[in-house]
Amino acid sequence: MRLLYEGKSKRIYDVGDGRVFVEFKDDITAFNAEKKASPEGKGRITYEISRLLFEYLKSRGIPTHYLEPGEGGFYAKRVRILPVELVVRNVATGSIVKRLGVEKGREFSPPLVEYFYKDDALGDPLVCEGHITYFGWASREELERMRDIALRSTELLKELFSRAGLRLVDIKYEFGYDDEGNLLLADEISPDTCRIWDSEGRSLDKDVFRKGTGDVVKTYEEVLRRLREALSRE
Ligand code: TMP
Ligand code: ASP
Repeated sequence: MRLLYEGKSKRIYDVGDGRVFVEFKDDITAFNAEKKASPEGKGRITYEISRLLFEYLKSRGIPTHYLEPGEGGFYAKRVRILPVELVVRNVATGSIVKRLGVEKGREFSPPLVEYFYKDDALGDPLVCEGHITYFGWASREELERMRDIALRSTELLKELFSRAGLRLVDIKYEFGYDDEGNLLLADEISPDTCRIWDSEGRSLDKDVFRKGTGDVVKTYEEVLRRLREALSRE
């Protein structure tokens, strides 16, 4: 398989038949890669959670790039990623608290959607619809479709996490187009790309690494265990 792209936590290989293989590395970074580590088992656990969540969303009608599991990663449709990330917030924490002075823990109902421009050199800045359409990163209609998929996915995930005794606080989505022109949910969905709190408000996500408050692999394993348990009760 030919290596197409290596990111901070994943490698994307071209399988050659319109498919890619998404391999999860042990590497974890925060604050635009200022903080780095490579805890053993981190790639495997992130892959397992991402696989479970994509399979869950796909089985409930969400269009995703995910195709099937593999060894240390999954097979997905090859897509052209749009340079806009959508963050859906159910509860205020993280950058919105710093940026706008919103009270931490405040609930957003309905959820709040924000857009970020995917550019590491600029530190993925917050952008608004005007920037996105003006610079041609996505059209108004595309943005509306991404918003719709992101909100439906968040509703489904929120419900699954709740059954697992967990709270989905916020989550980041990326989208891409496949060769047939379908808009698909892409990248990964894992505790690297969302925030999860337990019933006591304890973080079970990448904030553990950002803040240095615990063991990332053990924390993610706890998330996977609870999600599997919730799904087995279905
Ligand atoms: P934020 O509060 O730092 O803006 O993060 C919002 C959500 O987006 C949170 O679930 C973490 C996720 N996220 C990423 O997946 N990648 C990133 O580079 C950043 C900054 C946040
Ligand atoms: N993903 C970003 C980084 O590499 C930031 C973050 O998730 O906090 O550094």
